[in-house]
Order: sequence, then structure tokens, then C-alpha cells
Amino acid sequence: MNVYDLLRGLHILAVIAWMAGIMYLPRIFAYHADVAPGSEMDRTFQVMELKLYRIIMGPAMILSLVLGLALIWVNATARLGGWDFLLKPWMLAKLAGVVFLIGWHHFLGAARKRFAAGMNTRSNRFWRATNELPFIAAIVMVLAVTLEFGG
Ligand code: HEM
Repeated sequence: MNVYDLLRGLHILAVIAWMAGIMYLPRIFAYHADVAPGSEMDRTFQVMELKLYRIIMGPAMILSLVLGLALIWVNATARLGGWDFLLKPWMLAKLAGVVFLIGWHHFLGAARKRFAAGMNTRSNRFWRATNELPFIAAIVMVLAVTLEFGG
């Protein structure tokens, strides 16, 4: 069994779980934004959001990151014999996507806290309008690694 291919597979699985959470949490926010703070629905949405964020999204983000860093390590030390590939256009695009997704994850975490405190200020419309952003980042990131555009 090839360790690199195993790491790649596990990385993709962790990324699937992370992306599922990062795209589902704002769907819950969209409905939550229309509910009165303190109501029973408010409490239900808060529990759904907390569990999704803490149990799925947090661990999936950490695993994606650790496995991604492991892939970088194996590439640099064994497969490619150097760190130069980190500066290639496709890798820079991939890393820019990583920075954006980690930022978006924490932006959603901060919004979750505001919902939990009954202090949400963003609308149903806002959460629907921004919901596609992480998917656009995912398209860039997946095509960056599969096409290795720019050499
Ligand atoms: C969280 C930080 C991440 C890091 C540090 C990272 C890093 C890496 C590295 C170094 C590779 C191996 C590239 C190669 O030489 O083939 C890789 C593979 C891959 N990554 Fe990530 N990645 C991260 C997150 C993501 C995310 C969020 C996605 C999708 C949205 C993603 C999708 C993929 C895919 C599909 C592959 C397999 C490509 C292939 O083997 O052909 N990664 N990642």
C-alpha cells in the first residue's frame, strides 16, 4: 500500500465532511434569521448549529489541514525532493483557497455565537447570497490540484 495515496484518500474524505458542514451551516442560519430570539425554534436551531460546528466542522477542518500538511511534507521530502512546488501557480491558488476557507469557517463560527446570544444582525437573504462562496473556492482548489495549471 502506498502511504501517499492513503493520505490523499483520507484528505479528500476529511475535506468532504468539512465542505458539507461549511455549506449546510449557512442554510440553517438562513431559516434561523427569520425566527424570534428566545422561541422554541430559536433554541432548536442553536442546538443544530452548535453540534454541526463543534462535532463535524471543527474536527473535519483540523483533519483536512493536518492531512494536507502531511501531503506537503511527503511531496517535499520524498516525492519531489524540495519545497519549490509550494510556489507554483496551482499550489498558490490551492493555498489561497485554504486561507479563504479557514477564514470563512471562523466567520461562520462568529455568526453562530451571535445567533446563540440572540444578537444576529444578518438576514436570510445574506446567508443565501453568500452560500455559494465556499463552493466557488472548492472548484478553484480541486481544479488547481487536478489540472496543476500554470505548471
Ligand atoms: C486545509 C488545508 C489543505 C491543505 C494544506 C491541502 C494540501 C494538499 C496537498 C499538498 C495535496 C497534494 C497535491 C498533489 O501533489 O497532488 C492535496 C490534494 C488534494 N486536495 Fe487538498 N489541501 C487542503 C484543503 C483542501 C480542500 C478544502 C479541498 C477541496 C475543497 C482539497 C482538495 C484536494 C484534492 C481533491 C486533492 C487530491 C488531488 C490529487 O491527488 O489529484 N484540499 N491537498
